[in-house]
Amino acid sequence: MDAHADQDAELLAMLEADATLEAARPILELAAGYFADTRRGEGPVSTWHSAQVIADRLAGPMPRAPRALPDVARRLSSLLLDDINRLAHPMYIGHQVSAPLPAAVWTDALISACNQSQAVREMSPSFTPLEHQVIAWMTDLVGWDERAGGTMTSGGTEATFTALLAARSRAVPDVWTNGLGANPPVVVCGEHTHYAVSRAAGEMGLGRSRVIVVPSRALRMDPDALRARLETLRDSGTRVMAVVATAGCTATGTFDDLEAIADLCDTFADDHGPLWLHVDAAHGGAAMLSPRHRHRVQGLVRARSVAWDPHKTLLLPLSAGMVLLRDQDDLTRAFTQEAPYLFGAGTDAQVWDMGPRSFQCSRRADVLKLWVAIERYGADHLARLYDRLCRMAQTLHGLLSGRADFVPLHEPMSNILCFAWTPAGVADEARDALTDALRERYNRSGRGWITATTLNGRRVLRVTVMNARTDASHLARLVDGLVAEAALMLR
Ligand SMILES: Cc1ncc(COP(=O)(O)O)c(C=O)c1O
Repeated sequence: MDAHADQDAELLAMLEADATLEAARPILELAAGYFADTRRGEGPVSTWHSAQVIADRLAGPMPRAPRALPDVARRLSSLLLDDINRLAHPMYIGHQVSAPLPAAVWTDALISACNQSQAVREMSPSFTPLEHQVIAWMTDLVGWDERAGGTMTSGGTEATFTALLAARSRAVPDVWTNGLGANPPVVVCGEHTHYAVSRAAGEMGLGRSRVIVVPSRALRMDPDALRARLETLRDSGTRVMAVVATAGCTATGTFDDLEAIADLCDTFADDHGPLWLHVDAAHGGAAMLSPRHRHRVQGLVRARSVAWDPHKTLLLPLSAGMVLLRDQDDLTRAFTQEAPYLFGAGTDAQVWDMGPRSFQCSRRADVLKLWVAIERYGADHLARLYDRLCRMAQTLHGLLSGRADFVPLHEPMSNILCFAWTPAGVADEARDALTDALRERYNRSGRGWITATTLNGRRVLRVTVMNARTDASHLARLVDGLVAEAALMLR
């Protein structure tokens, strides 16, 4: 054997050795150990080390020689795992990122092992039909017929970008070749819309100045203000590419009145028909599954496109988003991409290939973990989980109601609640900095982890219940912890 053959044999032996369940064990044990450690709700929720401390720990030359996998797992654990945010800890009640469903977590390894690319059916013979099936379940849920379609995305930002590209192709049919032209249309959205909309406007060359923002009333897009804006736009001859409503706003979890907004899209119809209504249901889409919460998305069926993130309130691990279109041809028109080496000709490819309808080229089969979650827990149990998350936000609202120091700022419509710290004798203006300092202090204490946002111009505290383990006792611990840290701050 020559030297190459010896080295190759050694390398291949390493790959083969790593491909067994035994070899996977050290890594899987870290994940299972993490679940076990966080289950009791003890220990710190996050880290107090600065990013620089961690960066210094990791600094050094790139390793040139191999290590055994158990050794790598040990290093991974000691270098990194102590300093993660423990989302599975019931006292993590922070951002809209889930404590993921274990069955979906394990499926992630299988998705990587199979490494099918959803772009074309020839690269993913069984998972592309699976994606079509799962998308069909979801468009059924919205209430659309068999003309509907969609695609999985990396998340809500890409989903809304994709939907607005589809709306752009409808408003400016030759846009793919000739661009937006001298007089581009506008996008109309609510004050509390996620930045995905203004970002999409920037990305697609529309320009952020072509995003018309409608003020809110009671934290929801004000339909009277929307009517007034649409009248002004019509009177000035400005074309409206899309109206974007939100089902589950980022800051407060509130739902816009979709029926009222859809009515206005009908009233202000242009040459193409009713105005394109896009609903960003990235956060609140799970309400569709729940008999208790379904009314929140009343009118969703009238949308032309919907963004929905199973990696939020369906508790999947990142990433799993989707964009749904009432008419799947709209999605095909959004991208007029020619790629003869990739996109096959013929009916089979036209039906099944996802690439022509998707922003991404190579794309993970994230649909598999969504399908496993639905198989394992059933849609009804997923709905109950969503109900539970929302019930916990309501429970916290109850705990805070009647207090003078921490005041809930709205009735929760989902699993998000904003509340203000109102220490006696502190002026409103001074409260903003104190609120941020209190959050920082509480999070660094390791007791729990929450977020803050700006609401009506004031800094406020915010929680999102994204963990099925969080119960009323943890919410009581949150209030006690904030009270204790606040007392220390004001001492
Ligand atoms: C309403 C809404 N839309 C879109 C997004 C963006 O989703 P993603 O982070 O999955 O891109 C978020 C995330 O916070 C959101 O709350």
